[in-house]
Amino acid sequence: MKVVLPGGTGQVGAILGRALTAAGHEVTVVTRSPSRAHDIGWDGVTLGPWAEAIDGCDVVVNLAGRSVSCRYTEENLRAMTDSRVDSARVVGEAIAAAERPPRVWLQMSTATVYAHSFDAAHDETTGVIGGAEPGVPDYWAYSVEIAQNWERAQSEAPTPATRKVALRSAMVMSPDRGGVFDVLSRLVRLGLGGPVAGGAQYVSWIHGEDLVRAVEFLIDRDDIEGPVNLASPGPLPHRDFMRALRTAWRVPVGLPATRWMAELGAFALRSDTELLLKSRRVVPGRLGAAGFAFAHPEWGSAAKSLVRQAGRRHPGREADRLSTR
Ligand SMILES: NC(=O)c1ccc[n+]([C@@H]2O[C@H](COP(=O)([O-])OP(=O)(O)OC[C@H]3O[C@@H](n4cnc5c(N)ncnc54)[C@H](OP(=O)(O)O)[C@@H]3O)[C@@H](O)[C@H]2O)c1
Repeated sequence: MKVVLPGGTGQVGAILGRALTAAGHEVTVVTRSPSRAHDIGWDGVTLGPWAEAIDGCDVVVNLAGRSVSCRYTEENLRAMTDSRVDSARVVGEAIAAAERPPRVWLQMSTATVYAHSFDAAHDETTGVIGGAEPGVPDYWAYSVEIAQNWERAQSEAPTPATRKVALRSAMVMSPDRGGVFDVLSRLVRLGLGGPVAGGAQYVSWIHGEDLVRAVEFLIDRDDIEGPVNLASPGPLPHRDFMRALRTAWRVPVGLPATRWMAELGAFALRSDTELLLKSRRVVPGRLGAAGFAFAHPEWGSAAKSLVRQAGRRHPGREADRLSTR
């Protein structure tokens, strides 16, 4: 297949690009800074010669969007929204203008679209969209609004010949440097991998290998369109999530952090505590109903496998020593 990945230079693009290329597909990355042979330049806003890559391709997976790990200033919130809405809109324009449109357009979205909750898990049918839940800071509504605008940019695109799927993805866990697993692993190895603010908030996650398998599954399944949760069936409270990660790294203790310590840490890292404190209890309803089987459904064994993979990929690091024990 010919696969086009707008925004494919980031963490998810690296995982997908690697796997799809290894499977024999022709992958083109659309980026604002083309530097490799299979890169094509765009601005993420306007149509241009890059759209020729879309005409005649089989699949588009649009991953473009400003990182959400930042302070939620007015300027950053606008950039988070615009980069997602504009890129989805212009990908839709490119597909609409194509003589040979792709058969499927997978558009990244986020599991953050669902409400902060501890009890019932959110699937695509009964899940509650966030933004109006009581007891959370008002500004948490922004990320829900961004996700809704993002999905709307895809759903309203006039592309009748192309099936559209919105990927409501949870945190993607891969052994790559700079990804969320790497960041959390560093904290754990420093002894700072304890629960934050009590740790009752749920963490939803998906192993990078399952993300790739789910994307391949959704490419093949002509009967599935609309929002699909990409999250393992085993979301778990943050305190259990961190305990399992410490076990995988064989680090016996993790310093707990209070809410204000998390605020200080987020400030120092130029990030926002919503990423840590919002309870995301999201499950893969549609994937499960369609018969998709997760290779890594459970966090404890997934974390151990990621630690081993990190060791193989970055020999010399502590992971290497652990993986050979
Ligand atoms: N990683 C996760 O765990 C996760 C979970 C749920 C949802 N998501 C979403 O999935 C997408 C991909 O995630 P990721 O982790 O790979 O993100 P990432 O590493 O931040 O990469 C996203 C890419 O978007 C492009 N981009 C950034 N600002 C842009 C702008 N203003 N206009 C156009 N393109 C822009 C960048 O490519 P260039 O600089 O090369 O143009 C960047 O490499 C993101 O939208 C993210 O919000 C990620």
